[in-house]
Amino acid sequence: MATDTSSLKLEKVVPEAEDFLPLLGTDFVELYVGNAKQAAHYYRTAWGFQPIAYRGLETGSKDSVSYVLQQDKIRLVLTSPLEKDGPINEHINKHGDGVKVVALWVDDARKSWEETTKRGAESAHEPFTREDEHGKAVFSAIKTYGETLHVFVERKEYDGPFLPGYKAWNPEYQPSELGLKYIDHMVGNVGWNEMNKWCEFYAKVMGFAQLVSFDDKDISTDYTALMSKVMSNGNGRIKFPINEPAEGKKKSQIEEYIDFYNGAGVQHIALATDNIIETVTGLKERGVEFLYVPETYYDTVLDRVGEIDEDLEPLKNLGILIDRDDEGYLLQIFTKPVLDRPTMFFEIIQRKGAQSFGKGNFKALFEAIEREQESRGTL
Ligand code: FE2
Repeated sequence: MATDTSSLKLEKVVPEAEDFLPLLGTDFVELYVGNAKQAAHYYRTAWGFQPIAYRGLETGSKDSVSYVLQQDKIRLVLTSPLEKDGPINEHINKHGDGVKVVALWVDDARKSWEETTKRGAESAHEPFTREDEHGKAVFSAIKTYGETLHVFVERKEYDGPFLPGYKAWNPEYQPSELGLKYIDHMVGNVGWNEMNKWCEFYAKVMGFAQLVSFDDKDISTDYTALMSKVMSNGNGRIKFPINEPAEGKKKSQIEEYIDFYNGAGVQHIALATDNIIETVTGLKERGVEFLYVPETYYDTVLDRVGEIDEDLEPLKNLGILIDRDDEGYLLQIFTKPVLDRPTMFFEIIQRKGAQSFGKGNFKALFEAIEREQESRGTL
């Protein structure tokens, strides 16, 4: 998987951002989970991720096991401990299953570490090199919100199945892919009044800028009870919205997350598709559960977003939401939490020009639910 980065267009789409690293993309997302074998089965069977690589007792890893799954550009690493004590056990005990590492693909992991720590990032791991018969890769890591890490991955001299220490994993069981293409954005939930601190972290330490979009204003309302800002790197490949809870009519969903996760962490991973109707139909057939959208949402949605290419009927049947900004529209849907704790979930998103994040759907959804309540006389 050695990749020549020289041909990649790194055009600057967020002019205010300073791309001193630069970040080439998300390399992988690693989750610490209680049972990686079964989690891998879930992400393969229900989500269409393909088996790529494995590391465990058979490869000489005595303390932990990892399964690497991939769908187009999205790579998930699922890791479980093999011993009774240790940092992975502690992470799972405190947070439940959750994202530990958001790994960023860079050209120079040492320089990335030097530049970010120089700007105030707390180091999680100094630069180090790992090698095997497929070449070498360089890593370094910094801390971000909660106990989440950013690992910088430099893989230009590596052409193995994943990274040094992993062997190719090619089981007989191979459920098909479902059209998921890349990570559109990854959202972090942070504590009360911490949003600005973490946005400043991404600005100062990583050179990110706040994305100018419909989501750039605080979106605290009676309904949503959260505030959110979106930070992006210069080439727009890495987008990190940061949420904090706000006072509302009910307990903020962000606060609920913080309570169950015991701190800040990754709230949702938005996966892009070119055909949301096909992708979501497949996910539903394979048992992925999505948030309920009342039919009344569709009574007024086209008044709000105007004309769209798709028929409304299949969108309504699947519960896909629609939003529009200055540049176009987007289709999106949210899963229920994929864990027993109400913490992490996924979003499926198809962009048709829009570069924002679906802010208009917060209010529209709650209003639709209230219209349903009204019809039952329970409002
Ligand atoms: Fe999102």
